Parts: sequence; structure tokens; C-alpha cells
Amino acid sequence: MIIDKGKVEKFFILQYINNFNLKIITTDLLSNDGQDILKNAILDNDIKLIYSGGSDEQHLNILNYLDLLDSKAYFAVSNNNTICCGEGICGSCEVQIDGQKIRSCKVQLDVRKAIERRVLHG
Ligand code: FES
Repeated sequence: MIIDKGKVEKFFILQYINNFNLKIITTDLLSNDGQDILKNAILDNDIKLIYSGGSDEQHLNILNYLDLLDSKAYFAVSNNNTICCGEGICGSCEVQIDGQKIRSCKVQLDVRKAIERRVLHG
């Protein structure tokens, strides 16, 4: 498990995940070292699923490595960073895909379409 240090550098989930006997790496994923750790994790392990719980930029960064390294791992992301009401009312989570506005808190979306669109076009 790779945990990005982020700006806060407090790992609130460590107390919960320490019981799972996981190899936990904490790093700054935007640093060169962090990028190498991410690439090597994708390359060196037989990873079937990658879950990213961070910003859209982080999701896109991982997607780019999955493409670059020709990984076939499933990729799932959290959209918690865009959610406000979580009920389909406020529109803060809205993405536009193929000309259609979609409130991402209420549906499962193709990660690639949703993330690239939001990062590249706001
Ligand atoms: S979070 Fe409010 S509509 Fe999705």
C-alpha cells in the first residue's frame, strides 16, 4: 500500500490498516522518488487492482503509468474530493462525458473518461 504524504503528513488511517499485515510505503507521490515507487510497484508486482483515493491529478498520474507500463490492472478511484451533498442535488461532482452532464456521486463511471475530462477541461 502506498500512501501519499500530502500536505498534512498525518496518516489518519494507519491505526486502522496496521492490523492487515500490509507493506505500507509513505511517500510524496509528486516527488521523483514517489514517482519511482509508483512505477516500480506497478511494474514489479502482479497487481490486479489499483485503488486511488485522492485528487483527480493523482488518479490521472496513475492512469498514465498504467498506460505507459501496459498494465492490465483494474483501476478504481474515489470521487470524494468532488462530492458535497452525495445525493445528486448540488452538482459539485458533475462531469461532462460525450456531451452529457453526469452527477458522478450517483453512478459508476469509466474512470478514464471522467478523470481526463475533469483534469483537462475543468
Ligand atoms: S455531490 Fe452533490 S450532486 Fe453529486
